[in-house]
Amino acid sequence: MHKKIRTSNIIRGCWQLAAGHSEQNTGIQPILDAINCGFTTFDCADIYLGVEELLGKASKVASEKKLSIHTKFVPDRNRLHHIDRKYVETIIDRSLRRLQTECIDLVQFHWWDWGVKNYLLAMEFLSELKVKGKVAKIGLTNINTRYLKEFLEYFDIASVQVQASLFDRRIEQGIGELCCKKNIQIFTYGSLLGGFVSEKWLGKKEPDLHQLENRSLMKYKLLIDSACGWEEFQRRLSILEKLATKHCCKIAHIAAAALLQSGKADAVIIGLSPQNFAVQNRDLAEFPLLKAQDLLSISNWSCHLSGDVYDEERDLSKAHANMMKYNLNAE
Ligand SMILES: NC(=O)c1ccc[n+]([C@@H]2O[C@H](COP(=O)([O-])OP(=O)(O)OC[C@H]3O[C@@H](n4cnc5c(N)ncnc54)[C@H](OP(=O)(O)O)[C@@H]3O)[C@@H](O)[C@H]2O)c1
Repeated sequence: MHKKIRTSNIIRGCWQLAAGHSEQNTGIQPILDAINCGFTTFDCADIYLGVEELLGKASKVASEKKLSIHTKFVPDRNRLHHIDRKYVETIIDRSLRRLQTECIDLVQFHWWDWGVKNYLLAMEFLSELKVKGKVAKIGLTNINTRYLKEFLEYFDIASVQVQASLFDRRIEQGIGELCCKKNIQIFTYGSLLGGFVSEKWLGKKEPDLHQLENRSLMKYKLLIDSACGWEEFQRRLSILEKLATKHCCKIAHIAAAALLQSGKADAVIIGLSPQNFAVQNRDLAEFPLLKAQDLLSISNWSCHLSGDVYDEERDLSKAHANMMKYNLNAE
């Protein structure tokens, strides 16, 4: 009997279910299906329109299951200069209502602009809500090594959520090591590059950025362009496919196992597809551990992304920053 990756190492990400992300309105069905397949942890954010509500409803329907819901506190870019206690508590109270709970399992804090120094103040207000019992744990998302160190001087940080994959190795610039040293859990997203890292894209011609079906694919197409280019991406995808065939699994499994088994991630967040959730939930519920030599053959692919995690995405002169929506909490 082969050893398997556990469902507790896979977090089902729910951005894909947000209004505006997909035309398809599948309601709570993808979440209930994931719960039935054994998944217990779900990721969302205050700015994923309608998703906290879906998770609130689903957790009531599946109330016999012990679920863990991770949300994010993403203060609007327009508010960063005048963050106050009331703003922070109002947003968290709204998440509590939407999630239909009295205490949020994990709130991951995101800050759009390190040039605006109020981030420690915002974190202080968030920490007060932990003391009040409205939040159980606080984590950070899209943080780099330098700012994680600064937060650690003042606050307990339970987890860090950052982008990492076989194609994006910026996590190796220091934040991975720091998290291990400080016993901070690492949750990765972008591990399937929004679905590009799958059989669906194998052998496909390079798509035009503006013809892609959602913002997620556009974001990761930009990443492929910066990391290795389309031709090299296809070469690597075919290597992953050969490995998947050898292990009787899918490319998605290899991509997730590589992060988990190398110790780069404590859990991999994988998006819950509104179209294809039924097959993918079942696929992801059980998959094999890779052999060490197979891991080695794919773990040192070159990556031309410069800087620490999320540095390039924060750079307003780069294409990525122009795709972001910065003030969704006000909408
Ligand atoms: N902190 C942040 O700033 C941030 C940013 C982005 C995402 N996230 C979190 O991470 C989650 C995942 O988003 P992501 O951007 O990282 O996307 P991802 O997980 O890399 O890609 C998700 C897509 O991969 C495909 N997929 C999923 N399971 C599959 C399987 N078993 N086999 C083949 N294809 C599969 C699906 O595409 P199809 O729909 O085409 O089938 C799905 O929509 C989000 O929901 C969110 O919770 C956080």
